[in-house]
Amino acid sequence: MTNTLTITRPDDWHLHLRDGHVLADIVPHTARRFARAIVMPNLKPPVVNVDQAVAYRQRILAAVPDNCSFDPLMTLYLTGQTRASDIRQASASGVVQAVKYYPAGATTNSDAGVKDLTRVYPVLEVMAEENLPLLVHGEVVDPQVDVFDREAVFIDRVLLPLLQTIPALKVVFEHITTVEAVALVKDTPDRLGATITPQHLLMNRNALFQGGISPHHYCLPVLKREAHRQALVEAATSGDPRFFLGTDSAPHAKSAKESSCGCAGMYSAHAAIEFYAQVFDDAGALDKLEAFASFHGADFYGLPRNRDSITLERSPWQVPQMLRFGNEELVPLGAGEMLPWKLSD
Ligand code: DOR
Ligand code: ZN
Repeated sequence: MTNTLTITRPDDWHLHLRDGHVLADIVPHTARRFARAIVMPNLKPPVVNVDQAVAYRQRILAAVPDNCSFDPLMTLYLTGQTRASDIRQASASGVVQAVKYYPAGATTNSDAGVKDLTRVYPVLEVMAEENLPLLVHGEVVDPQVDVFDREAVFIDRVLLPLLQTIPALKVVFEHITTVEAVALVKDTPDRLGATITPQHLLMNRNALFQGGISPHHYCLPVLKREAHRQALVEAATSGDPRFFLGTDSAPHAKSAKESSCGCAGMYSAHAAIEFYAQVFDDAGALDKLEAFASFHGADFYGLPRNRDSITLERSPWQVPQMLRFGNEELVPLGAGEMLPWKLSD
């Protein structure tokens, strides 16, 4: 049995850090584990241009502990007002690595998102020219569509037409949750990648209702049935380079989760690589963790792989019940539970 695992330092290709005084509580969790992270732009107001991305990056860097080296990779938030010039500036900046598409109304702080993606195709053409990837939140918002089918319907209505119309555009299908998404990524030549979160690998939708409604297991896209979880585990552990690590760690105050209209998002940054190690270990695929966590994403984005390493030990530890979140508290994923893998100091 493997009891110690040393891997190239991983990167998180999908992360929410928020802004302001909470950065000091949030950034260190990621910076201790990961070399880089793709930072989501869904602030209030959203990050829509290079100047805002540069300023936000500085605020994040100010919250990185002294003994960590962490490089936040910034994204812009696609809106109906995004111009070709914004894209060219982003591409030239060296700071912005991608542009995020939120269907308007799909999730947290998505009101400024795009209602009809075909209307911004000219901007996406410029992204293809500049080799800037589009990161998609892959859910339709049509109230007629069952919430558990939103991702599968998105593939047919939005993603397939996009891939056909702009064949040179690189796309990351973020936080995939379904058999259908896995199949699409496998069937599409190299320009379509996908991130997979720890929560969608660890849990199915029963976790939402175990012993009563559990707001801390609510995220978007919502957890799916067991067959989908199994397809995700198979994809993540398959060694296929189009699947890579993206936590979608998304902190919300305890009070905002435990509410009559609880926010979507799970916080996993405090134990992110440890959760993935558990999944890969359970699947008998620890030897595949390094490529998924440390190689595939960098290769997809055309960035160098990291040079240093981290070590994980099989040494059970208990996740705290609560973490600090500015003046509030945060309930982390796995609160109070024992996790089998621990990050070595
Ligand atoms: O659960 C989610 N939380 N899904 C998202 O797409 C956004 C995120 C957040 O920002 O809280
Ligand atoms: Zn996200």
